[in-house]
Amino acid sequence: MINIEKDLAIGVFDSGVGGISVLAELVKSLPNEKFIYYGDSQNAPYGTRSTEEVKTLSFNVVDRLLEHGIKALVVACNTATSGAIEDLRQTFNIPIVGMEPALKPAVELNKKGIIIVMATPVTLREQKFNNLIKNFSNDVEVVKLPCPGLVEIIETKGGRGKEIQQYIKKAFSSIDMSKVSSIVLGCTHYIFIKEEIIDFIGDKDITLIDGNKGTANQLQRLLAQEKLLNPTESKGDTKVKMINSNNTMMPLSKKLFQEHLETIDFKGNIVYR
Ligand code: DGL
Repeated sequence: MINIEKDLAIGVFDSGVGGISVLAELVKSLPNEKFIYYGDSQNAPYGTRSTEEVKTLSFNVVDRLLEHGIKALVVACNTATSGAIEDLRQTFNIPIVGMEPALKPAVELNKKGIIIVMATPVTLREQKFNNLIKNFSNDVEVVKLPCPGLVEIIETKGGRGKEIQQYIKKAFSSIDMSKVSSIVLGCTHYIFIKEEIIDFIGDKDITLIDGNKGTANQLQRLLAQEKLLNPTESKGDTKVKMINSNNTMMPLSKKLFQEHLETIDFKGNIVYR
């Protein structure tokens, strides 16, 4: 990578508020960095669209982020990663980190039982995920659980409430939960409904897994490798800029961000730019 300024921000995007859970994890891992988050709620959901549409929307968002100047990009969306990451990497000469359902860590738990992967229809149908199943599932049974319509509820209601409880109950109605070993949250929006899923699971021994920490680790590795880590101390303040293509989403975005920072025990201070 050539001539990228180390003090530029890291661009993070999602189709809406989902990637905010990833942003929180990135801020916790790299508090000396500046971040700019773009949520494309105006065009959410991406997960029920054609692959071509997902690509076009993703490129539009990355163009917006580049106007602000970024040194690296995190595609904090499993759907946009599966539909667009290869084209993005071929087009833009900055480090790009994507997300995929955390199936590998789920398999590595070596628990007996079925692994459920909750994700959008796009993520589950794309080649990227089906290769992942081929490479990692061996003789473990993996059940794909597409959740169309769930992102829309989270975009309007946040992560808790009756509507979400009803959705979860219906989505799992054909699954024998006593046979389930783990549930992979393969869409960044679903991180916000974790508590509702935990309530639904009750006292069964089912592990919930997501890829947020792994994504933060991967970004850290890549920035170190490309010598792009910001050398300036943030003195406990991390600068974050938040943008949404639908401005009315800003209050919910900030609320989810602050709540999630608390959930993951972030000790620093956020300064909105
Ligand atoms: N948050 C996105 C993901 O991780 C998908 C949301 C959508 O369908 O727009 O897959």
